[in-house]
Amino acid sequence: MSLHIAASAGEIAETVLLPGDPLRAEYIAKTFLKDAKCYTKVRNMFGYTGTYKGKKISVQGTGMGIPSISIYVHELIRDYGAKTLIRVGTCGAMRSDIHLREVIIAQGATTDSSIIQNIFGPSIQFAPLADFEVLRTAYEKAVQEHIPVRVGNVISVDRFYDEEINNEKLTQYGIMAVEMETAGLYVAAAKYGVSALGLFTVSDHLLTKEACTAEERQLSFNDMIRIALETAAA
Ligand code: ADE
Repeated sequence: MSLHIAASAGEIAETVLLPGDPLRAEYIAKTFLKDAKCYTKVRNMFGYTGTYKGKKISVQGTGMGIPSISIYVHELIRDYGAKTLIRVGTCGAMRSDIHLREVIIAQGATTDSSIIQNIFGPSIQFAPLADFEVLRTAYEKAVQEHIPVRVGNVISVDRFYDEEINNEKLTQYGIMAVEMETAGLYVAAAKYGVSALGLFTVSDHLLTKEACTAEERQLSFNDMIRIALETAAA
């Protein structure tokens, strides 16, 4: 086992879906995977492995924020050999032409986190990016499944409640949505030379202040999971 994941060697698949909420990990495993088996309950951050269309796939809760996802992703890659990591989360839309329940694919993840400076120092502004092949597959699967998606830049913020951030400037520069983990995922994947992608369902809107009901969130979440699983099994 690693420090935060209680799996034995071989119990975790090379492809791992990463919801922030551990109960979502359980839901995905029990709803979509065949023969799903729980391999960790440490800190109630559930992880399951099963199969989808015959391919071994794991789903691991990551918690909220870059520090938390970074712990799980580092251990999944370094200690369990994960090669493809797909975040499946929620985000807040920042533009008026983006609506609740839409699915967004993060081509890039801008961040206000200190993670970039901590690694590269003050003069390098590293750009955390998705793996192109995984992104292309996800986009093609979305088209095949008739699920509209948007592809572009998101921002991974350190503070959910942030009154100081200049959202207007960010949207002027093309940022579509806000979430809290993907830059950490992309930086860790770059460090270890593995593939990563972030997919999100829009759960709330920063301009209109609308938010999905729990039921709406579940239904639209399922579209995103279908894209992620079809990508993982491709
Ligand atoms: N995840 C979902 N909605 C969010 C928001 N409004 N801000 C940060 N992370 C989010």
